[in-house]
Amino acid sequence: MTWYTLLMTEKPSFLHTDIFLDSGDPAETRHALAELGFLDGQTTNPSLVAKNPMILDLKSKGALSESDIWDKYKIVASQIHEIIPHGAISVEVYADLETDYDTMLDKAHELASWFPGIYVKLPITHNGLKAANALVAEGVNVNMTLCFSQEQAAAVHAATAGAKYGQVFVSPFIGRLDDIGIHGLDLIKNIVFMYQAWDSHVKVLGASIRNLDHFFGCINANCNIITSPKTVLDQWVAHGLNNDPINYTAEISEKQPIPYRELPLQDWVLYDIDHDLTKKGIEKFASDWKGLFS
Ligand code: E4P
Repeated sequence: MTWYTLLMTEKPSFLHTDIFLDSGDPAETRHALAELGFLDGQTTNPSLVAKNPMILDLKSKGALSESDIWDKYKIVASQIHEIIPHGAISVEVYADLETDYDTMLDKAHELASWFPGIYVKLPITHNGLKAANALVAEGVNVNMTLCFSQEQAAAVHAATAGAKYGQVFVSPFIGRLDDIGIHGLDLIKNIVFMYQAWDSHVKVLGASIRNLDHFFGCINANCNIITSPKTVLDQWVAHGLNNDPINYTAEISEKQPIPYRELPLQDWVLYDIDHDLTKKGIEKFASDWKGLFS
């Protein structure tokens, strides 16, 4: 047992949502655990890993190969695991728009072997879903990322049918929808509602959190998990670690609402999973990753 685990206390009893840190820096994991007294997990992605201080420092001292970067990513993930050994930690495969199924699956197997209980992040594309389908059957945990539509979440549920409850996360990105004038929290509410109706095995992980409005919005929508950057966790701590949005003045939202859709439960390949933001997100992650060694 490390001193970090000794620090852990019970989380607030009102809280039925797990709180994760969204960061590629173990120093932030220590900080979040110390200020909250608990931390249920952590998500990383290629852009966050590209900001890790140890990796940036090594890069500034000389060229790193892609294999060096993967080694460092493994060290970073293992350090996080050491700080929160019972936490659910997500690490992301490299994928660009051309990455094929076999390549994605091979990388997912490698990441899944880093330590027990790790979650492998895959994009919600045809190959990502196909890989998730194979991985959950092997008992691997997956986190399906870059979710921007209810149809994509329906496809995640269908592609991973048979998985244990909690073996699969879906990560709808709130902030990136808000950025284009669409009410991102509506997507969370719609997916939670649909999954409840389907008694889904998939947990909804609110991602791309930019402010306390998103944070409280996820809690009040009965989202299973929130992954929050350090800045927003700090704001929550300053707010008294409560769930009191009544005393929190949220921005008046002028954003376009997302209507709920009654979707059929069907074979995952039949859902329309195309979304521009998923493609843009894949391109951005790929370019941040490649920037580390090119
Ligand atoms: C976490 O899993 C996501 O990758 C992350 O929350 C994305 O956040 P961003 O939209 O602020 O980059």
